[in-house]
Amino acid sequence: MNVLSVASEVYPLVKTGGLADVVGALPSALQPHGIRTRTLVPGYPAVLHKLKKRKTVGGIDNLFGHPAKVLAAEYDGLDLLVLDQPALYHRDGGPYLDTTGRDYPDNFRRFAALSLAAAEIAGDDVVPGWKPEIVHVHDWQAALTPVYMRFGSARDLPTVLTIHNIAFQGQFGASVFPELSLPSEAFSMQFLEYYGDVGFLKGGLQTASAITTVSPSYSQEILTAEFGMGLDGLLASRLASLAGIVNGIDVDTWNPETDPYIAQNYGPGTLKKRAANRKVLEERFGLDKTPGPIFCVISRLTWQKGMDLLAQVTDDIVALGGKLIVLGAGDVALEGALMAAASRHRGHIGMVPGYDEPLSHLMQAGSDAILIPSRFEPCGLTQLYGLRYGCVPIVARTGGLTDTVIDANEAALAARVATGFQFHPVTADGLRLAIRRALRAYNEPKVWARLQNQGMKSDVSWAKSAERYASLYSGLLAKG
Ligand code: ADP
Ligand code: GLC
Repeated sequence: MNVLSVASEVYPLVKTGGLADVVGALPSALQPHGIRTRTLVPGYPAVLHKLKKRKTVGGIDNLFGHPAKVLAAEYDGLDLLVLDQPALYHRDGGPYLDTTGRDYPDNFRRFAALSLAAAEIAGDDVVPGWKPEIVHVHDWQAALTPVYMRFGSARDLPTVLTIHNIAFQGQFGASVFPELSLPSEAFSMQFLEYYGDVGFLKGGLQTASAITTVSPSYSQEILTAEFGMGLDGLLASRLASLAGIVNGIDVDTWNPETDPYIAQNYGPGTLKKRAANRKVLEERFGLDKTPGPIFCVISRLTWQKGMDLLAQVTDDIVALGGKLIVLGAGDVALEGALMAAASRHRGHIGMVPGYDEPLSHLMQAGSDAILIPSRFEPCGLTQLYGLRYGCVPIVARTGGLTDTVIDANEAALAARVATGFQFHPVTADGLRLAIRRALRAYNEPKVWARLQNQGMKSDVSWAKSAERYASLYSGLLAKG
């Protein structure tokens, strides 16, 4: 089965968050099911730069006023199609933001173009000799694909839209509509129109054959007013087509036994070796070389991720004898608050602002626990990396965090299934209590080692979830 996957980021070429990890890992997990995925991404400079061996396999004469090329390349096991349209994608800055951190003003056009190109690849002879049987699109940036398909020549191909985060909807003023090359009937409740605006995600949710999100709990939460961000009603009307499939991780990229980014490789039987990684972290973050657990945070610094709650408990962590290291980028005020905590508690709190993939691996390999106090979390990947690395996750009880971490309550400890700590409500007090519970467990080395071992035994691979995607695809094909 041929699948066209469409997304605005893909690891290891371009990544701002978990979306890239998922889009990068799913194709090889689907391969054993006879599914061959081609992934269409925009030709950002970062992407083109890495793809030395690429060839032009197709073109679109007029994509929003400019010609575009479709390039094909293989990279790290991925079969890629790259939409090369310099006017839209050759920019300084990241995939979505300019160098000053502002959204590009033409993001609606940049991602409508990605979606339109996907629809044309699916329906027309853009890439001669290749056609998908299923089109799987990710998040708002690709969500117009099924809308364009509905009004184009691929109207009968089944589509899957995966919601990685319903907080990001791609909502723009009605004035952009005439630029989208869609018939006027698309600006209606049945398609894009959303409270008088244009909603990219809304349009996709209305038209995709199937909708998935990245954990079972989140698939339930988004049906409520609290988490649905205005789309709960629409989703309720599509309940029969909605599924929650939990993310896995790439267990080769994230393997403490072979990870090239860490100072000392180790496995479940050799947890003591983690000490060498801790040593490097102590140097890197300027921590005192005294005992006690190191808590780490690897995160976008945002309200969603509860980073304001973290800032409120920094003094408590130190008072309780713990240390904290933070790697993160995002909100300037939150970064300031955490930097201030680091200078208040030199030797006990360290902060590295910015984005650093290798350092994120080392932190999982050398810290004792990872804190994830998210207010909402569709799936979350850092707790899965934590489980795999023996870095015990302490998580808010929400979304995919609920589904992937087993709380160390008495019953779970007795049954030897506990893998971490969950807390609720998601407040500074809730987080404080969870940290206290973790410290108590840390002070009982046998209990702690059991938590680490249970975590390392959990199946965080893509195996089960890839099977679910594969049967979703076959079900859609069978329906015709
Ligand atoms: P989200 O996609 O909502 O940010 P996830 O937990 O799904 O959250 O995925 C985040 C991904 O980005 C993980 O791979 C994590 O390791 C990585 N990450 C987040 N912040 C940083 C950072 N500052 N430096 C390096 N990696 C980071
Ligand atoms: C989004 C979500 C995160 C999820 C990731 C990958 O960024 O915020 O929870 O893990 O997508 O699906």
